[in-house]
Amino acid sequence: MKPEFPEHIPPERVVTFDRFTGPELQQCPHRAVSDLFKRSPDIFYTTGDRGHWVVGRADTARDMLRQPDKFSSDPRHNEANRRQPPTLPNQCDPPLHTELRRIINPFFSPAGVQKLEGQIRRLATELIDGVLERGECEFLGEIAQRFPVELFLRMANAPLEQRELLVEKVDRFTRAPQVQERLAGLEELGNYLKVLIAEREQSPGDDLVSLAVHGKVHGRALSDDEKLGLVTLLFLGGLDTVAAMLSFIVAYLGLNPEQYQRLVDDPNRIDNALEELMRVHGVAGTERGVTADMVYAGVEFKAGDRLVFFPHVYGLDEQMVDDPFRVDFDRPVSSHLVFGSGPHRCVGSHLARLEMRVFLEEWVRRVPKFSVQADGELATRGGLVWSPVRVPLAWVPPSPAGQTTGVAP
Ligand code: HEM
Repeated sequence: MKPEFPEHIPPERVVTFDRFTGPELQQCPHRAVSDLFKRSPDIFYTTGDRGHWVVGRADTARDMLRQPDKFSSDPRHNEANRRQPPTLPNQCDPPLHTELRRIINPFFSPAGVQKLEGQIRRLATELIDGVLERGECEFLGEIAQRFPVELFLRMANAPLEQRELLVEKVDRFTRAPQVQERLAGLEELGNYLKVLIAEREQSPGDDLVSLAVHGKVHGRALSDDEKLGLVTLLFLGGLDTVAAMLSFIVAYLGLNPEQYQRLVDDPNRIDNALEELMRVHGVAGTERGVTADMVYAGVEFKAGDRLVFFPHVYGLDEQMVDDPFRVDFDRPVSSHLVFGSGPHRCVGSHLARLEMRVFLEEWVRRVPKFSVQADGELATRGGLVWSPVRVPLAWVPPSPAGQTTGVAP
């Protein structure tokens, strides 16, 4: 019988895994996927999601992601990841990539995002205060999908009323198991963004969409496809990733009250603790196409082979971090790859860190104890960005005097 995978792939490197629907992704995906990678070849092939290689080791991934000439982000080398138009800057290589990053980097630099701290803090406070007296909330829907999303919509000067609609479209693109459905979600998002782009072409402001739309590459204006591709990726990055990671982190803290208590007692620890919490709760992956036939790390690749990377779990690779599942707020900051590596390293990483740090500072101030209301493990979803399905939390509401003193129910 004809094998289901290309002929150059040795059967001993084939492992059953589907990054959208696999059983490993339905609960505790970080542990389950790490365990799967540990017992599989360093680089293995799966027939899941239309067939691709999986790079399961952090150091190999880092090395490959730093070589765009061999492992390209351009879908010309990765037919299965083709989108019309391509999202940018993630679906192109240098030198166009370098030019596109030059347009958006200043907005997302540490100094650029620092200007947003006051606004971030106000929004975090508003959202927490909105649920505080109730003593319970579904964290993902009521807070996490509002906090970074509303902030991002303000940065883009886009109407807040569209929030739920946009979150739903991004969710379809990110997690629908069928590629046709993912692309349909992307097209709908694109139709919405085309209107926004046309508005900013006419009357530019100092918002992120105007900056992207009026940027130049190699001394010329962006084409319509480039504008749409760039604004689309900014929305994809801004709307989903922080919501997912913050939900994993808050759920972890609710399930580990002793560790949470350390942050309540000393909020100065939050900075270091956050780095450690991010290391074990990566959410976003990426892919590349092989540009030419080659042997790399002992594996034979053919031009056009598709490679999928899992920054979600590279921080849990024991070759990279000692005793990786031990969450230790005093651990010296380790490199974790949750924001990727190489030229495409996440442009939004400083913003993401700032949002999560400020949120946790305000959360510990107002909710000194809380618990996760779940029987057993939380259900999760795989896809391009992993996320919990729901994060039900409970705490004792503050007394009328305004003091939250209670013990988690
Ligand atoms: C916890 C939150 C986040 C995580 C885990 C994350 C993760 C990543 C990863 C792994 C990449 C690398 C993709 C690749 O190599 O192809 C990336 C790229 C990117 N991210 Fe993020 N991201 C986060 C937040 C954000 C935010 C808030 C934005 C803001 C809009 C953003 C915008 C982008 C963009 C535009 C790229 C493409 C960069 C390029 O291709 O040069 N991300 N992100």
